[in-house]
Amino acid sequence: MLKNNGYQFIEETKYPNISESDQRQGEPQPPYEIPLEEGKPLIDLPDPQSIDFGTYDLRKAIEIRRSLRRYPEDPLSLEELSYLLWLTQGIKKEDEKRHVVWRTVPSAGCRHPFETYLSINRVDGLEAGLYRYVATQHKLVALRLDEQFNEQLTEACMGQRQIATSAVNFIWAAVTYRTIWRYSERSYRYLYLDAGHVCQNLHLAAESINCGICAIGAYHDDMADELLGFNPPEMFVIYMASLGRRETNG
Ligand SMILES: Cc1cc2nc3c(=O)[nH]c(=O)nc-3n(C[C@H](O)[C@H](O)[C@H](O)COP(=O)(O)O)c2cc1C
Repeated sequence: MLKNNGYQFIEETKYPNISESDQRQGEPQPPYEIPLEEGKPLIDLPDPQSIDFGTYDLRKAIEIRRSLRRYPEDPLSLEELSYLLWLTQGIKKEDEKRHVVWRTVPSAGCRHPFETYLSINRVDGLEAGLYRYVATQHKLVALRLDEQFNEQLTEACMGQRQIATSAVNFIWAAVTYRTIWRYSERSYRYLYLDAGHVCQNLHLAAESINCGICAIGAYHDDMADELLGFNPPEMFVIYMASLGRRETNG
C-alpha cells in the first residue's frame, strides 16, 4: 500500500468535491463553547489585563524557543496559568448577536473549534487533576481531582515522562461541528491548522515567562478520548503540550 495515500484526503476535500455546508443550507450555528458542567463551581483566575510580567522581545522568544521535556519541581503560579490560557484561547471580543467570538489566535472562518483542558500537576492554589478552561468567563472548572488522572494521561501518551513531570499539560479538544457547519468536509484541514497556531502561541508565551513546552502529537487517540469522556467524531483530542518552568541553568 502507498504510504502517501493521505493525499486522498486532500483530493476529496478540494472545493469541487465537498458538499454544501450546513450554514448554506440554513442550519443554526452551533455554540462557541460547550455547556457548563452541572453542579461544578467555577474557579476564578487572575484578570489577564492586570497581570504584568513586563515585556519580552518577540524575536528572542522565537529564536530561543525549543522543545523542553525536563522540568524542575517548581509550581506555576495562578497568574502564569491565567496568562498562558489567555494567550492561547482567550476571548478578546464577543458578539452574542452574531454568535461570534474573536480570540488571541486566528481560526479559519473565526470558527474557534477548541476547548482547552488542563491536566494539572503543580499550580499554586489548585489541586492536581483535570480542569476545563471556560474561555467566555476566563475561569476554570475542576472535573476530576486526583493524581491518577495524570498517570492515565501519561499512559495514553505512550508513557512520555514529560506528561508526568510537567507542571501542567494542555489538552486541546476539537469540537468538530463548529467548523463543519461552515466548511463541511474541508473542515478537517482547518482543525489541524488552527491547532498549530494555538500551540505556537503557547510556545512563545511560555518562553516569555521562563517556561518551556513540548508539543505532543504521539498519543493513543482512543485512550485519550475515552479518558476525557469525548465522543469522536463530535469531539476528540487534537493536540497536547506539556509545560513547566525552565531550569535556571537550562
Ligand atoms: C505536531 C508535533 C507533534 C509533536 N509530538 C511530540 C511528541 O509526542 N513527543 C515529543 O517528545 N515531541 C514532540 N514534538 C516536538 C518535536 O519533536 C520538536 O519540535 C522537534 O524535534 C524540533 O525541536 P525543537 O522544537 O526543539 O525545535 C512534536 C512537535 C510537533 C510540531
